[in-house]
Amino acid sequence: MKVAVLGAAGGIGQALSLLLKTQLPAGTELSLYDVAPVVPGVAVDLSHIPTDVTVKGFGKDDLADALTGCDIVLIPAGVPRKPGMDRSDLFNINAGIVRNLVDAIADNCPDACTCIITNPVNTTVAIAAEALKAKGVYNKNKLFGVTTLDVIRAETFVGNLKGLNPENVHVPVIGGHSGTTILPLLSQVEGVEFTDEEVASLTTRIQNAGTEVVEAKAGGGSATLSMGQAAARFCLSLVAAMRGENVVEYTYVETKSDDAEFFSHPVRLGKNGVEEILSYGELSEFEENAKNAMLDGLRGDIKLGVDFVNG
Ligand code: NAD
Ligand code: LMR
Repeated sequence: MKVAVLGAAGGIGQALSLLLKTQLPAGTELSLYDVAPVVPGVAVDLSHIPTDVTVKGFGKDDLADALTGCDIVLIPAGVPRKPGMDRSDLFNINAGIVRNLVDAIADNCPDACTCIITNPVNTTVAIAAEALKAKGVYNKNKLFGVTTLDVIRAETFVGNLKGLNPENVHVPVIGGHSGTTILPLLSQVEGVEFTDEEVASLTTRIQNAGTEVVEAKAGGGSATLSMGQAAARFCLSLVAAMRGENVVEYTYVETKSDDAEFFSHPVRLGKNGVEEILSYGELSEFEENAKNAMLDGLRGDIKLGVDFVNG
């Protein structure tokens, strides 16, 4: 198994690479790529941790070598938000970064599962899909927008509110990854009752949790440590599924459903990526209204990505 992190010297990249170095199965190769000159140092640093995961660093001219033979590629490369910005404000810089990196995936490891973390995820996943289509190697079962951070936040906030161990709380989150497109399904949390006021305030908090971090970091970036944990969880689930375990994660994938072309669903993962897109079940009236109100915005975000590649 070979896993690559593109943008490995950044805030998310370093946290994620640390978790992968300590948690990937023995024998895995971990390939760290970044345009920042510190990346070989990050790889040497991690390589001193005594696990049977081999870490190699690749600088800006060595992208092809970093990718050759990869089974999973995680992309947190790009700029993060500052206070007052929306995720969509990152489009001008990050769209081109994602396009170039995905082109290189198509050229060097077209069968890899590609996991997009770079914002705006609603749009960058569509860019990745169109870039892979343009190279004739698109496989909808192997392209994922990583929305796991919304799930772990929802689990933490519900656990804290209800005095439960968040590790035992499971909260479905569907839709996209920005503002109101993030839709937690609190009506489906087992064994927990919420008042209407709690549903309204928890939903808003989960939707604005990224901004909560951006404001708290006061110009120093956005979520990196919790995102590292979320991406590691998603990657390790993919690895487990590729080794035959039955794993379900919520992730932003192509659905071609009536909702939108890409939409976070519960997905059964398997040896070849998406094994089955599962239904997100019945929504409460509050959730149905929230979903209907955000769909046009999400479809617009996706169109922006399609148009970026196709002109
Ligand atoms: P960061 O600035 O700390 O790190 C980004 C890294 O990307 C840097 O090391 C930079 O050198 C590298 N980079 C830039 N261009 C590159 C290229 N062409 N190839 C390879 N590497 C390149 O930023 P961060 O805090 O790690 O955030 C990264 C991205 O992740 C941002 O777009 C942010 O909005 C997004 N993000 C997404 C989620 C999510 O839930 N999906 C959560 C948090 C952050
Ligand atoms: C998050 O949800 O924390 C990320 O998408 C980063 C951001 O800009 O909010």
